[in-house]
Amino acid sequence: MSQPILEVRNLQTHFFTDNGEIPAVDNVSISINEGEILGVVGESGCGKSVTSLSIMGLIPNPPGKIVGGEIIFKNENLLRFSEKKMRAIRGNDVAMIFQEPMTSLNPVYTIGDQIGETIRIHKKVNKKRARELSINMLKKVGIPRAEQIVNEYPHQLSGGMRQRVMIAMAMSCEPKLLIADEPTTALDVTIQAQILDLMRQLNKENETAIMLITHDLGVVAEICDRVVVMYGGKVVEEGDVRTIMKKPQHPYTKGLIRSLPKLHQKEERLFSIPGNVPKPGSILYGCRFAPRCDEVLDICSNKDPELIEITSGHHCRCFHFEQEGGHSR
Ligand SMILES: Nc1ncnc2c1ncn2[C@@H]1O[C@H](COP(=O)(O)OP(=O)(O)OP(=O)(O)O)[C@@H](O)[C@H]1O
Ligand code: SF4
Ligand SMILES: [Mg+2]
Repeated sequence: MSQPILEVRNLQTHFFTDNGEIPAVDNVSISINEGEILGVVGESGCGKSVTSLSIMGLIPNPPGKIVGGEIIFKNENLLRFSEKKMRAIRGNDVAMIFQEPMTSLNPVYTIGDQIGETIRIHKKVNKKRARELSINMLKKVGIPRAEQIVNEYPHQLSGGMRQRVMIAMAMSCEPKLLIADEPTTALDVTIQAQILDLMRQLNKENETAIMLITHDLGVVAEICDRVVVMYGGKVVEEGDVRTIMKKPQHPYTKGLIRSLPKLHQKEERLFSIPGNVPKPGSILYGCRFAPRCDEVLDICSNKDPELIEITSGHHCRCFHFEQEGGHSR
């Protein structure tokens, strides 16, 4: 069994706003093993991005604050790191790519300058050599006319090309962990498949562990080894990808899977889970999914269920399992 490279333990990230304290991430524990691709899924507002920004030390403060938990990376708690030490971790041991690469690329520097700088942080090479290596990297991620693109600025490229540049930069740091937050959401299906292939390649060649955040279980089924399903700032189900896709147990996960478009099946209308994700902190008692759940029990509106291990490595937060017994954590 491989070791966890990252362990998020009981993370609590809150926002302090005029409307009160918002528990966006409420006691979340997630671990990623070395070389593993972990999917984190859930609808909009479930706390996926706040979890990933917490790991990277990028929660805007104010209004946000990590009020509890630990983030263990290489046996050290990142929450105790100074900003300077965190900066050294980011883009070095841990890289991150976002839905909109423009937010991470600097608009006033050329693509070559930006990849070259990343390379020079990691390898002792002169500028000319860094430029050659940048061109190689661009070719590796499938960018045509790489010799020309190195001299261009981010705004001159399409969204798909910019995302490739981000992956090229991530590859040149040879990170132990890549956190990818909706990296393909803004792209069309063909480009999306190519970007997923590149991530798979990064995972295989460098054994980079990847935490892939997405609202799309189809993407998860395609490349992930394991899945964490989040709802209302909590983990509600977790397990290996085959188990979750074939035998989901949480009513929310079942709903997400039912909402997936099916090949070879022409449905009039696609299923969607009725209702909306509750605002963090708006449901004070009971299971947060209760207002939308089609398997709701009497107990569900009074008590919050625990995350229970229902079979080896498969965890679920639902009273249907607590009543049958299991191991809570
Ligand atoms: N800067 C902020 N100020 C106040 N509340 C915030 C802030 N950022 C996030 N939140 C709260 O955290 C909750 C979770 O947000 P988050 O961005 O993690 O959702 P997500 O799962 O990534 O959704 P999406 O799929 O839309 O990206 C939001 O519903 C919002 O209430
Ligand atoms: S605990 Fe109750 S409301 Fe929550 S998912 Fe399970 S059955 Fe549905
Ligand atoms: Mg998000």
